[in-house]
Amino acid sequence: MKKKLFFGRVKSRILTNLQKKNSSLFLKTRKIKNSLFRKNKIIIEIGFGHGEHLVYLSKNFTKKTIIGIDPFQNGLAKVAKYCMGNNIKNLYVFPYVFEKFHKKYKNYNYDDLYILFPDPWPKKRHHKRRLFDEDFLRLILKKGRKNSKIFFKTDNYNYYEQVYNMVNEFKKKELIKDFYQNLKTKIKTKYHQKAIKNGSKIYSLKIKNN
Ligand SMILES: C[S@@+](CC[C@H](N)C(=O)[O-])C[C@H]1O[C@@H](n2cnc3c(N)ncnc32)[C@H](O)[C@@H]1O
Repeated sequence: MKKKLFFGRVKSRILTNLQKKNSSLFLKTRKIKNSLFRKNKIIIEIGFGHGEHLVYLSKNFTKKTIIGIDPFQNGLAKVAKYCMGNNIKNLYVFPYVFEKFHKKYKNYNYDDLYILFPDPWPKKRHHKRRLFDEDFLRLILKKGRKNSKIFFKTDNYNYYEQVYNMVNEFKKKELIKDFYQNLKTKIKTKYHQKAIKNGSKIYSLKIKNN
């Protein structure tokens, strides 16, 4: 049976007309074309939520192309407002699920790929809804350029363990825990902050894809 692609919400708050207008203007002027993947270093973030980390990437890596993938419209509205207000040229958004992106851009590739606090679906019967499963790992490993890296972060130990074990089975992939300590970044996404507030431990993996 085909896996259902999305179980979350595309909106948390009602969007104003101005937000909707800004979002569609931003998407129109920032079309993702296949040619984008032929040049530049590419950083992709899947499930960027409210966009804190995506914006951080665009500010800190101005020479790289940053692509955010998420159907969450409030996040798109925030990112669009930021980019248009600050003349940001290196950030693109695909406002649908990753699986659709994967089908649409046959030749896409990346140098760095971030998946930060994906929906954990803690109940066992919901584990199959998780984005980062074996099929997903197989797909994204094929799309990484030479020496590319995948960054994964969660506060759900079971999810972390699932990803850790899967990656180990693929062998030759080097796992590095707590990548955020190495990156010296202060940026914390909404779900990162939530985890800290709840006193949850945070697990992270850097997967070298060579
Ligand atoms: C728990 S939130 C985390 C958001 C953000 N990364 C953070 O740390 O605050 C998960 C996000 O993943 C998005 N998402 C869920 N399934 C997705 C999919 N298949 N493709 C792209 N984004 C997805 C949701 O819309 C949501 O914004």
